[in-house]
Amino acid sequence: MTQPISIETHSEDETRHLGAEIGRVAQPGDILLLLGSYGAGKTTLVQGIAQGLGIEGPVTSPSFVLANEYCGRIPLYHIDLWRVSEMDGVTFGALAEYFGGDGICAVEWPASLPASLVDGAMVIKLAVVEDQIRRFTTSGLEPRVAQVFERCAPHLVSAPQRHK
Ligand SMILES: Nc1ncnc2c1ncn2[C@@H]1O[C@H](COP(=O)(O)OP(=O)(O)OP(=O)(O)O)[C@@H](O)[C@H]1O
Ligand SMILES: [Mg+2]
Repeated sequence: MTQPISIETHSEDETRHLGAEIGRVAQPGDILLLLGSYGAGKTTLVQGIAQGLGIEGPVTSPSFVLANEYCGRIPLYHIDLWRVSEMDGVTFGALAEYFGGDGICAVEWPASLPASLVDGAMVIKLAVVEDQIRRFTTSGLEPRVAQVFERCAPHLVSAPQRHK
């Protein structure tokens, strides 16, 4: 696990590019919890992840079905729990198979997920700074994902101090 990193993107394309780089280093069992308000850019980031995994075709918000599965280098499970205020047993059972499995889980509005499903998850918090500017603040990233943020961050806000 790595220290928090904070970066900004200054366009939708920069967010897609960041997502694509995450998709390139994604490994089976990765869980990304995407926090942030409406229009913060969570789905846009997932669209980039899909691109980085080699997934062709549109990635749209799964708001009406809870989860969409895409087949890329590894599977992408795009989950949106905006409508789920409390997790019931049926929903839990349906979602559990995605977690810690063969692919990467990217979850929008993850508040209702039980702790047992999000153990070891990487957290990316998105905030709207200005019309085109979004701030990403991370916690618990795997080093390979943290490197993506440090390497391709177009606008670094803060990163952990490195000791030489
Ligand atoms: N730097 C940026 N990164 C991402 N999106 C941006 C950026 N600047 C502007 N935008 C715009 O913000 C919107 C982000 O929408 P998106 O659907 O990705 O948000 P979301 O966080 O998934 O929202 P919701 O919670 O409603 O699902 C898009 O209209 C996009 O064009
Ligand atoms: Mg969305």
